[in-house]
Amino acid sequence: MEALLQQIEKYKQEITEVEATTAEALETFRIQWLGTKGTLKNVMGEMKNVPNEHKRAFGQVLNEFKLFVEAKFESLQQATGGADNAAEKTFDWSLPSSFVPVGTRHPLTIVRNQIVSIFKTLGFAIAEGPEMEDDWHNFGAMNLPEDHPARDMQDTFYINQNPAWLLRTHTSSVQARVMENQKPPIRVICPGRVYRNETISARAHCFFHQIEGLYIDENVSFADLKQTLYFFVQEMFGKGVQVRFRPSYFPFTEPSAEMDISCLICDSKGCNVCKHTGWVEILGSGMVHPKVLENFGIDSTKYTGFAFGMGVERICQLKYQVNDLRLYSQNDVRFLKQFTGAM
Ligand code: DAH
Repeated sequence: MEALLQQIEKYKQEITEVEATTAEALETFRIQWLGTKGTLKNVMGEMKNVPNEHKRAFGQVLNEFKLFVEAKFESLQQATGGADNAAEKTFDWSLPSSFVPVGTRHPLTIVRNQIVSIFKTLGFAIAEGPEMEDDWHNFGAMNLPEDHPARDMQDTFYINQNPAWLLRTHTSSVQARVMENQKPPIRVICPGRVYRNETISARAHCFFHQIEGLYIDENVSFADLKQTLYFFVQEMFGKGVQVRFRPSYFPFTEPSAEMDISCLICDSKGCNVCKHTGWVEILGSGMVHPKVLENFGIDSTKYTGFAFGMGVERICQLKYQVNDLRLYSQNDVRFLKQFTGAM
C-alpha cells in the first residue's frame, strides 16, 4: 500500500514534466496514461488488492490521480490546438494561390469551331459520318467512276479489298450519308478527319481535316454558293480579304470551282505560302451533280444544290502562320501552349 502510494507520486512527477506540442505527442500521452492498457487503468486495477479498511482512502487517492491525468491531458490538448490556431492567425489568406496549369485547345479545334459557328449562323446543321467507309459512300455515290485516279491504291488506305472498306479520303462521304437519310431542304456542315496515303512532310500528311458543306433546296443557284462562301471568308478573315473563283473539275459537282483568297501572310506581295502569286486556294466547290442527287432519289429537275469542301489545316495555316503540317500532330506542348486563351 505504501509502495503503491509512492508509485503514484512518481507518476505524477513524470506527468508534470511532459510537454507535448504536436498532435502525435499528445496521442502518445493519451495512449500511455489514459488508454485502455494505460497506466491509469493499471493503477485502478490495484484496488482489488487493497485491504477493505483502506479501500475508501485509496479510492480517494485514485480518483484524485485520475483527475490529475485528465487535467494534464486537457491542458496539453489546449497547448497543441493553440499552436494550430497561432499558425492560422499568421496565415495570409489574401496570398495568390499556387499556379495550376490549364489545358489549351488544339489550334485545329479552335479553327474548326470558328468555321462551324459561322455556318451555324446561316442555319447550317452539323452532320458527322464514320472515318471507315465503304466504296459506295466515299466514291461510287459521289460519281467517282471506277477508273478515277483518286481510287488508286496510292491515295487510299484500304482496310479490305472485297468488299472494299477504306479510310475516307474526303468528307464528301458524309454528304452521301446525309442525302441517304434526309429529304431536301438540306443544309449541313460536316467537319471530320480524312486519310490519304501520302508520305509525311511539311506540306503533306497521311491524315488531315476537312469541312464539307451541302445545301440542297428548290432554286439554289451558283450565286447562292458564291454569296455564302464570300460571307464565310469575310467572317473568318475580315472585310479586307479578296476572293476569286477559278473553274475546276470535281466528279460530284457541275460546274465546279475552286476559291482562292488574297494571301494574308504577305498581304498579296508574294511569299512561299502563296507561291508568289498573292492568292491561296482554300476550298473546292460546285453545284451538286444531278447524278449524285439521283443516286439518293432526289429529283434533280426539282432540286438543285451546292457543295464545298475545305481543308482545316490550310485555314489554320493562314490564321496562325504555321508552315509545317507535322506540328499539328506531334503534340509538342511548346507548340500547343501558344494557343492558350484562344477559343
Ligand atoms: N472532296 C474534295 C477534296 O477532298 C473537296 C470538295 C470539292 C468537296 C468540291 C466538295 C465540292 O463538296 O463540291 O478535294
